[in-house]
Amino acid sequence: MIDREVEERLIAEAFRSRGNAVSKRSGFSVGAAIEAEDGTIYGGCNVENSTYGLTVCAERVAIWKALSEGVRRFRAVAVVTGADEPTPPCGACRQILWEFAGDVPVVSATAGGKRRLYRMSDLLPEPFEF
Ligand code: THU
Repeated sequence: MIDREVEERLIAEAFRSRGNAVSKRSGFSVGAAIEAEDGTIYGGCNVENSTYGLTVCAERVAIWKALSEGVRRFRAVAVVTGADEPTPPCGACRQILWEFAGDVPVVSATAGGKRRLYRMSDLLPEPFEF
């Protein structure tokens, strides 16, 4: 569960960030936002480059921003796309979100207004931990 007002703020920030997506290679713009324990929200967008493989997803950009500011505890994540249906984070992002944010709720929203709520423990059962 995500507090309704927080969910709206997370999704709004994720859409704002999505507007900065560097995504001309795929044409698929993604925005994300993560809420820190103190309520601060950090946004991110996907950043693609000419070698493709160095692309970083919106979710990881958002959490890197927070981690690099010293934030270590998180409450919720949002991801937004222009797809027809809500999309969950990719496998790589699931591993990173699990490691740094734990079993948080993840809301996915589309530009068309559809939403779906996930939990990290459902998205990444039996995670690798070290
Ligand atoms: N992408 C994300 O930003 N987040 C995801 O969870 C899935 C994929 C990006 C990576 C790439 O820039 C584009 O979407 C197409 O895969």
